[in-house]
Amino acid sequence: MKKRNIVVLAGIAAILVGHTAVVAADDPHGAANSINCDQCHITHGTLGEILVNSADSLVSTLCLSCHTPGGWAGMTLELSSSQRAQPGVSGTSHGWDAAARNAAVGTLPPQTTALLEHLSADSTVTCATCHDPHNNTVSPFLRLDNSANALCLDCHRQRNISSVKTYTGSDLSHPVGIALPSTATFHNPPLDTDGNPQPSDGNTTNDYVFGTGGTVMCTSCHGIHYTDSNSATVDGP
Ligand code: HEC
Ligand code: HEC
Ligand code: HEC
Ligand code: HEC
Ligand code: HEC
Repeated sequence: MKKRNIVVLAGIAAILVGHTAVVAADDPHGAANSINCDQCHITHGTLGEILVNSADSLVSTLCLSCHTPGGWAGMTLELSSSQRAQPGVSGTSHGWDAAARNAAVGTLPPQTTALLEHLSADSTVTCATCHDPHNNTVSPFLRLDNSANALCLDCHRQRNISSVKTYTGSDLSHPVGIALPSTATFHNPPLDTDGNPQPSDGNTTNDYVFGTGGTVMCTSCHGIHYTDSNSATVDGP
């Protein structure tokens, strides 16, 4: 949202804090950017059941109101609806308004309470399913540490396959959770766009990222936001 559109209700911070003393908004959703509770919450006439400044199913719209060109002053982490992935169609960012259960893509509603509680009322994934806008303990505002892909594998657990499958008529997926073998059988480290082992081309955003012990993960191959599927270019906002 633009600053001029914000309805500021005096005392909202005190009211909200009064209800839940533990909630604070960590930077950069705090003092460093002059953001108060009021920018995202209103106390009366609210559309969402959790008093956010938008309908519950539109939490993503709230996020995008600042995370957009011309949004919050000085915003560099911009996203727009045209970047949202629509499987098989287009997009450079993971989806943020689709049903959590999607048979075609093989997703199921998350099992972790921290994620499940933050689907919208109609069970769609929003920005706040993966991100906790208040708590930046696991940067960037993540609800789960994703260093071993716990976040990805919750909804996408049907793809948590650690062996190469032969064709059986069921869904196939690239294996994850196993270490990339030696350089004799695989390029390890993989080759960069200049033909030399990564990170030789100076573009770290196209490097394959491995887990502890050199394991292949979803995020070895997949990015979340700002992924243009072109390894020759730098991915970023
Ligand atoms: C950047 C936007 C933003 C700011 C700033 C913010 N909130 Fe929130 N808050 C949200 C969103 C979005 C939700 C709903 C998340 C969900 O469940 O999808 C929420 C949910 C809540 C909840 C419900 C419990 C929860 O964690 O889901 C409380 C209580 C709350 N906020 C209090 C506060 C207080 C107090 C402040 C100021 C210290 C604050 N918020 C600042 C966006 C914000
Ligand atoms: C009131 C404006 C505002 C709203 C609403 C808002 N953000 Fe932000 N957010 C910011 C600003 C400002 C930054 C810092 C941007 C920068 O560094 O260029 C930021 C940064 C972030 C970051 C990066 C954190 C880091 O440590 O690098 C994430 C992730 C994020 N926001 C997610 C969200 C999500 C999810 C929502 C909706 C629940 C949301 N934001 C709503 C203003 C906002
Ligand atoms: C499916 C989970 C998921 C959803 C949905 C999601 N994000 Fe993210 N987001 C992530 C993860 C994981 C990262 C960390 C990526 C990384 O470290 O490479 C991230 C990173 C970010 C960043 C930091 C980017 C940077 O380059 O520093 C911002 C800002 C952000 N998300 C905002 C949003 C907003 C706004 C929405 C909704 C419009 C959203 N996210 C929806 C998982 C998600
Ligand atoms: C809260 C549930 C949830 C989480 C967590 C989640 N996803 Fe998804 N993902 C979905 C759903 C639902 C779809 C299909 C609908 C859509 O695109 O929004 C999807 C679609 C995708 C797609 C297909 C996009 C396309 O354009 O074809 C990829 C790739 C993907 N997710 C990777 C990831 C990765 C990597 C992570 C971890 C950072 C992750 N997902 C975390 C629910 C989730
Ligand atoms: C070795 C690289 C690699 C790994 C590891 C990988 N993927 Fe993919 N994934 C791809 C490629 C390439 C495509 C595009 C396939 C196409 O266009 O036909 C894809 C497509 C997808 C899609 C789109 C739907 C589909 O079937 O076409 C989803 C969802 C997805 N991956 C999720 C995941 C998840 C979740 C993980 C981790 C469990 C994962 N992927 C691990 C490379 C990988």
